[in-house]
Amino acid sequence: MMLRLALFCAIACALLCASGCWLPGKPAPAPEVPRPDSVLDSKVLYSQNCAGCHGANGTHGAAPPLGDPVYLALVSDDTLRSVASKGRNGTAMSAFAQKEGGMLTEAQVDSIVRGIRQRWSNPSAVAGVTLPAYAATGAGDVQRGETAYNTFCASCHGAGGTGGAKAGSIVDPAYLSLITDQGLRTIVITGRPDFGAPDWRNNVPGRAMTGQEITDVVAWLASHRPASPARRQNVASSAATVSGGLQ
Ligand code: HEC
Ligand code: HEC
Repeated sequence: MMLRLALFCAIACALLCASGCWLPGKPAPAPEVPRPDSVLDSKVLYSQNCAGCHGANGTHGAAPPLGDPVYLALVSDDTLRSVASKGRNGTAMSAFAQKEGGMLTEAQVDSIVRGIRQRWSNPSAVAGVTLPAYAATGAGDVQRGETAYNTFCASCHGAGGTGGAKAGSIVDPAYLSLITDQGLRTIVITGRPDFGAPDWRNNVPGRAMTGQEITDVVAWLASHRPASPARRQNVASSAATVSGGLQ
């Protein structure tokens, strides 16, 4: 729940900033501020463009934790670069490359990706570990996914995924409408170490999920995602509820 609220706030802030960002009391930039294109410092670029959703240190954000060494062992530079450039359709992850309609040059995207690797990769954290494949290699089965859910997830997320004592709902239509299947897969593999959610090895101590179980549980989660028209409606009404709740 906290994560979802944080995600809505992040989207709201991103929209606010896109429309000018001049909050009352905020001084206008000094005239000697460098052209945005000329900034190449990866830390500055990351904090200006990514930290709002992915967290200042790549953790504790609403969006997947780019600072998790397990995540960085799982994902290739090509994927990091391509997602940062093109975004993920239908989610808050927008396209950042100028040629995709964003604000960053190719050199800036490269700098962010290099910075993420340099600051947060830690190969020793996964030494000797066989990682699942980043992307699904075949189709998932919803029925088997339900079994996998009951085995690996229900202890925390409750019967049917609607929330339990240790973690919130993961079948909420508004949540599922804002995350892709790959986004779900990434989370199932890496967990959210920053929020105490276990990775694929540790849901049940001593029993890592197989690649097929991961694929199946994602198919089961995705089967709760509403179809398109309802999906838009759900997102709108739940965003209204959230902003109403914040006032
Ligand atoms: C030991 C408890 C535990 C187990 C087991 C567990 N989770 Fe979680 N999960 C958490 C916690 C804690 C969070 C973060 C807080 C929250 O969302 O309630 C979380 C968050 C999530 C999220 C939302 C993360 C985000 O950033 O959007 C998803 C999706 C998720 N879990 C899926 C699963 C699936 C699928 C399984 C089984 C394969 C599973 N979890 C097993 C504790 C657990
Ligand atoms: C407004 C919020 C927001 C901002 C800002 C943002 N992201 Fe994201 N990002 C997301 C969300 C949400 C996802 C999950 C998308 C999905 O469902 O697949 C995501 C996913 C990603 C992923 C893929 C995770 C995976 O599944 O492997 C990468 C890589 C990524 N973002 C990099 C970046 C970088 C680099 C920046 C800054 C240039 C950035 N993001 C800025 C919200 C954001």
